[in-house]
Amino acid sequence: MSSIKIECVLRENCRCGESPVWEEASDSLLFVDIPAKKLCRWDSLSKRVQRVAVDAPVSSVALRQLGGYVATIGTKFCALNWENQSVSVLATVDKEKTNNRFNDGKVDPAGRYFAGTMAEETAPAVLERHQGSLYSLFPDHNVKKYFDQVDVSNGLDWSLDHKIFYYIDSLSYSVDAFDYDLQTGQISNRRIVYKMEKDEQIPDGMCIDAEGKLWVACYNGGRVIRLDPETGKRLQTVKLPVDKTTSCCFGGKDYSEMYVTCARDGMDAEGLLRQPDAGGIFKITGLGVKGIAPYSYAG
Ligand code: BGC
Ligand code: BGC
Ligand code: CA
Repeated sequence: MSSIKIECVLRENCRCGESPVWEEASDSLLFVDIPAKKLCRWDSLSKRVQRVAVDAPVSSVALRQLGGYVATIGTKFCALNWENQSVSVLATVDKEKTNNRFNDGKVDPAGRYFAGTMAEETAPAVLERHQGSLYSLFPDHNVKKYFDQVDVSNGLDWSLDHKIFYYIDSLSYSVDAFDYDLQTGQISNRRIVYKMEKDEQIPDGMCIDAEGKLWVACYNGGRVIRLDPETGKRLQTVKLPVDKTTSCCFGGKDYSEMYVTCARDGMDAEGLLRQPDAGGIFKITGLGVKGIAPYSYAG
């Protein structure tokens, strides 16, 4: 048995930390703070953080093959030049829905940038329902819309053989799967692979490990859970000292560490006293399973 260790490596006080992504080339963790409108890069060697401010809520960040990053900012897919902090718009979605923003996004194994939208919240998980959609940005900057009627578009990832797309619409309280056609980027045949249990609360960000099992961050549940998408069974629960765990990714040497983001927004003064690391970046070691490298946007 390996022994699991959980450590807050950065007390960033994120209002809503999200989208952890490991950048192997710089030994760094990228992440965003959505309502604070900032992107961060934490250097795991120097422990220093660089921050870039943008002009709208930034909900996800991903690597780009051309260098720099891509990010979902407001309802725009953008490219970000980290050196001069300039942002350029690649495409805009939900133009008629002025109260919407993007939420989680991730690049597929063919270099398409998937991300979904949601209505802005009046409080965490309180929002006008059915306003979101799921999209992907192809390498040629064309946008494909998959479906609408989404409440809170959230975690996403692909199976190791690239034949299944896993997806979370948070207010369905389930983790779903679709058949995936990597050649065309089409999805089909939606089904539920896991229904959240009551104390697991709201399913949020998600990532796959090198054994094909899914890790889901449980918003308000203070934990990440490991699921077997083939049997629909939960294999493991890892509790964290913060309730509003939002997302997870693997990183570090050989992708053997897990990084978890979390939020402060929606906590009262007493909760913040009890959980002073809320909004920080957590590192979990000793899980005994590795992750896989993130894909880079191909456009
Ligand atoms: C963070 C704060 C942090 C500060 C340090 C801000 O962007 O939100 O939590 O203490 O940077 O410079
Ligand atoms: C969203 C938050 C939301 C949370 C729980 C996150 O992905 O960015 O705004 O409160 O999910 O649904
Ligand atoms: Ca999320």
